This record gives sequence, structure tokens and C-alpha cells, in this order.
Amino acid sequence: MTTAPSKAPRLLLTGGAGYIGSHTAATLLEAGCDVVIIDNLSNSSASSVDAVQKITGRPVSFHQVDLRDQPKVEAVLREERIDAVVHLAGLKAVGESCEKPLAYYDCNVIGTLRLLQAMQATGVRQLVFSSSATVYGDPQFLPYTEAHPTAPTSPYGQTKRQIELILQDLSNSAAGWHFSVLRYFNPVGAHESGDLGEDPRGIPNNLMPYLAQVAVGKRAALTIHGDDYDTEDGTGVRDYIHVSDLADGHWAALQHLMRSATPDASACHFFNLGSGIGHSVKAMVGAFERACGKPLPVQVGPRRAGDLPAFWADASRALEALQWQPTRDIDSMCSSTWRWQQAHPNGFNEQ
Ligand code: NAD
Ligand code: WQD
Repeated sequence: MTTAPSKAPRLLLTGGAGYIGSHTAATLLEAGCDVVIIDNLSNSSASSVDAVQKITGRPVSFHQVDLRDQPKVEAVLREERIDAVVHLAGLKAVGESCEKPLAYYDCNVIGTLRLLQAMQATGVRQLVFSSSATVYGDPQFLPYTEAHPTAPTSPYGQTKRQIELILQDLSNSAAGWHFSVLRYFNPVGAHESGDLGEDPRGIPNNLMPYLAQVAVGKRAALTIHGDDYDTEDGTGVRDYIHVSDLADGHWAALQHLMRSATPDASACHFFNLGSGIGHSVKAMVGAFERACGKPLPVQVGPRRAGDLPAFWADASRALEALQWQPTRDIDSMCSSTWRWQQAHPNGFNEQ
């Protein structure tokens, strides 16, 4: 038996001040949900929460709390009368995770354990989790389906897989737990308002924020990490997904969770959130040049250690089960990024 949610849910969004979290907050507020954010601001600024409130015209309850502080997380769950959790908080840099694996296991795995223990203590049993396509590792076949074997190649990827396994074990242990694990592909783009976007600290590692900083004149040139792969133009191929489509995917997953959750059953569902289409680095450079209306300086360098040549999603399960599919193309990803970068060249740290 399934039940429809009878009232607008009150949601705890962990990591809600971050890049994907702030866009997800905006979508959930616009869908009518009440949103409570927990974030320790280790990789973000409370200004993003202000921007979300301004864009949506709706209030957000914000708590600067670290997930590993279980008593505080419990207090928020109880006092804010939370119905379900959307869990995005964590550390996310692959390279840094190789240098500081303990920090990654501590923040991501222990942080999630503390959150789950706080949920157990307060009777909250529904959670949507930010996982990553990085759990699949070297492709045995493409596109990756959710059934593809998992073999993460970095401590960061291992933390994501370990959390997935914890959620699966928990859902097998007792009735009432309901989890939706979202494996994101390559999230890029910015809010259509131009007032929310990715605000990386230091030199960006990822393609899109680097390209945006080249376009605005903060970096001299993009280095393409290898043009000798066995792909259409020799450069790496990825499945880029607009962050606002990704945010919509969280709402679709939550609705699915709330519709199907019953106290006498439990579940842990896995969904790829990607477009199902691969684009090369050169194709993304071309799209960004169209967006900003000028050629961008580009040089070709060696391959980046650990990079896969190409991967993209089979996103059919999300379409069938969640009725979710992306609607924004790479031109929209680049034009929204450019709008955000131009309006906020220093990100949320405006001065
Ligand atoms: P982000 O760094 O912008 O957001 C993460 C937020 O979590 C930050 O605001 C940070 O301050 C907060 N945080 C970190 N550790 C915390 C802790 N212990 N307690 C409380 N808050 C904490 O990153 P993002 O790109 O928005 O990523 C969000 C989630 O999506 C992460 O879990 C990430 O692993 C996952 N993900 C991201 C990508 C990507 O390419 N951006 C791809 C796949 C999965
Ligand atoms: C995309 C393509 C690069 C920068 C990473 C994480 C992954 C996930 C998403 C969290 C590749 C090329 C990049 C540059 C370039 N995060 N590139 N010059 O590596 O696919 O995925 O973010 O879960 O786990 O590994 O994304 O944006 O870094 O790279 O040529 O300066 O752009 O080689 O082909 P990636 P990316």
C-alpha cells in the first residue's frame, strides 16, 4: 500500500549552504516544502542561504552545526519536527581525499553515521543521499547502469560506497527505513537568476568553474587534460547534468520516497542522475564560447592521473520510477554559469 504525503514536508537539508545544496533548497522551497539547513560552512558561506531566501521569497531555518555533533543534530531533528532528510553534507575533492583519507572517512562516513544515529533516536526514517558516479570506477560497460559493479578508485569514492552499504544494511535490519541513493554524474551550471552558483575556494579542479574563471579573466587559459583518448575528438567525455535538473531529481526522489514509505517495510533504492549523453571537453569549451560570445584560451596538457577516458549514465531507471529527466542542455549549463560568474566574479564573497 502506498500513501500520498498529506502535507508539505518539513525537510532537513544537510550541506544546504553548498553548491548543490543551495540549488536543492531553492527547488524544495518552490515546491512548497519547509526547509531546515544544517551546514558547518567548511566549504561554503551563509550568504548562499540568504540568496536562496531572496530568490524564493521563503524563509529557511539555518543551523551552523557539524554533522558529527550528534546531540546538536538530534536537537535540530526534534525541535524542527523534521519529516525527512536530504543528506548532501560532506567533503568532495578526489585529489584531496588521497592526501587526507582520514579527514574524508571522518567527515563523510562518521558524519553520516552520527546523522543516522540521530535519526534513529528521533524517529526520522526517510533519507535521500548524495552519492556519485565515482562509485562505479573503471567501466566494465557503458552506459553505467545502477547494476554496474562498484569499484571506487579514491578514498572519496570509497566513502560514498561505504555510506551506500551502511544505508543498505540499515534498510535490511529493521522495518521503517526508506532510503533513496542518488548517484550524480557531473553537476554543472547555476541558478537561472544568476544569484546562486558554484563558488570554489582556490584554484578550481573541475572543468566548468575553471572555464568560467578563464572566461572572466581570472585564469590565463584552460589546460585540457589530454587529447589522445579514444573518444570522438581525443578529449575526455562526461555526462554533465544541470544543477537545477539535479535539484529537481531530489524532489522527485523525495516524493517517491514519501509515497512508497510504510512503517512495516523498508527500502534502499539506487538511481543514476545523469542525462544519458556524453560530451567531450572540447564540446564543453565550444558551448562556453557560445555562452560568453568570445573564443577562450585553451592549451593541451598531459592526461590527469586517475581520469577515466569516458563515462555516462543509463538514466532510464530514474525516468521510469521517478518520472524525472533532465530538461536543460549544455548551452543552458554554460549560459547560466556565465551569468553567475559575471554577476558574482568573487562568488558569495562579494568584496
Ligand atoms: P559543497 O562543498 O559545495 O557542499 C557540501 C556542503 O557540506 C558544504 O556547504 C560544506 O560546508 C558542508 N559540510 C561538509 N562537511 C560537513 C559536516 N561535517 N557537517 C556539516 N556540513 C558539512 O559540495 P557540492 O558540490 O554541493 O556537493 C554536495 C554533495 O554532493 C557532496 O556530498 C558531494 O560529495 C556530492 N557530489 C558532488 C558532485 C560534484 O561534482 N559537485 C558529484 C557527485 C556527488
Ligand atoms: C571533467 C573533464 C577532465 C579540468 C569529478 C570527480 C567526481 C565527481 C565530479 C564528486 C575530464 C577535464 C577538467 C581541467 C580538463 N565529483 N578537465 N581541464 O573528474 O569527471 O569528476 O567531479 O562525486 O567524483 O572526480 O570532473 O570537471 O574535473 O573533469 O581538461 O582543468 O574535464 O580531464 O575529462 P570529473 P572534472
